[in-house]
Amino acid sequence: MQILFCDVDDLTKQYLSEHPAPNGVSYVICEKSLNDMDDDELGKYYDTTDIISTFVYSRLTSELLSKFKNLKMVSTRSTGYNNVDLDYCRAHNIKVANVVGYGEITVAEFAVGLLLNLTRNIEFSHKKLNRGIVNVDQDIGIDLHGKTVGVIGTGSIGRHFARLVHAFGCKVLAYDLYPNQALADEGTCEYTDVETIYKNADIISIHCPATKENYHMINKDTIAKMKDGVYIINTARGDLIDTVALYNALVSKKVKGAGLDVLEYEDIILKNTVESAPEQSKEYILYSLINQKLLQLNNVIVTPHIAFNSIDANYRILNTSMQNMMDFIDGKEIRSVA
Ligand code: NAI
Repeated sequence: MQILFCDVDDLTKQYLSEHPAPNGVSYVICEKSLNDMDDDELGKYYDTTDIISTFVYSRLTSELLSKFKNLKMVSTRSTGYNNVDLDYCRAHNIKVANVVGYGEITVAEFAVGLLLNLTRNIEFSHKKLNRGIVNVDQDIGIDLHGKTVGVIGTGSIGRHFARLVHAFGCKVLAYDLYPNQALADEGTCEYTDVETIYKNADIISIHCPATKENYHMINKDTIAKMKDGVYIINTARGDLIDTVALYNALVSKKVKGAGLDVLEYEDIILKNTVESAPEQSKEYILYSLINQKLLQLNNVIVTPHIAFNSIDANYRILNTSMQNMMDFIDGKEIRSVA
């Protein structure tokens, strides 16, 4: 069995050196994303790869997957798997295993970090100070205590986020397609409909998956329903927010601040190149521009999809994805999302 690891960073490299391939298994280790390798680099693995271990940067489209003639499994080193064509995998009996529950507290803590940074102008004042500018009037922020926080999606991450902001003394309004009664019973939040959140929340934090139904759930119309001066936090997926609508709302100050760990077409920024473009489409060029403009706003903090990225969480991800692959190789039942 051959496992092709792509998007391999230093920590993953270190982990793989500490966990060498068992008998009968071999590793191919690629630092690059699959989409950044051409047939010359990748072609030699098309017939030999049994399992692909991927991070979110590689887009496993049907076109790419179809090149791997003996592929049996995709193991994502992430919770999200919207970068994998599940329909193709289902049709070709390729199992897809993700990692659930490795970093709920890690991502939730990061979301609170973005929130505090925004509401107290921490990075803004630091940047000014770096330029020798001291202007405390511009740095004035708000307390979290007493504010109403809307949490959309109270799965693993959202429920921890709800608990953390509740501990700050916030009133937490929650919305989920499947409310978690235990969370409400412990007094952390009150479940409501999403319209009530838009109307009443001073802060909205999104923790939903990027499904077709959730595409642009935050858009021009939903932003219009929000309180003036609302703060928006997104550590889930970029596609959940219509970036153009958010940009316009930030410029007009309808939205007072946004903390974004994820962006639509975030790979444009992350790779700092346009060569990785799936195609030089009009939309792609628009997002290159809008993401750059977003980065320049003072009331926005953008981080490069790092909410999961604590040492503790990374080791939990690697342990679980490795276990998924070894269970599959051993013929054990695995939880597949395809
Ligand atoms: P989860 O599956 O435990 O929870 C998602 C919740 O969203 C579920 O309870 C579901 O019912 C709810 N939901 C789905 N659609 C909804 C809608 N339209 N309105 C209200 N609720 C809805 O997922 P988890 O682990 O909490 O992760 C949330 C998302 O965070 C992931 O899907 C992933 O995209 C993202 N993520 C981001 C990371 C980062 O580093 N920035 C790391 C890990 C996850």
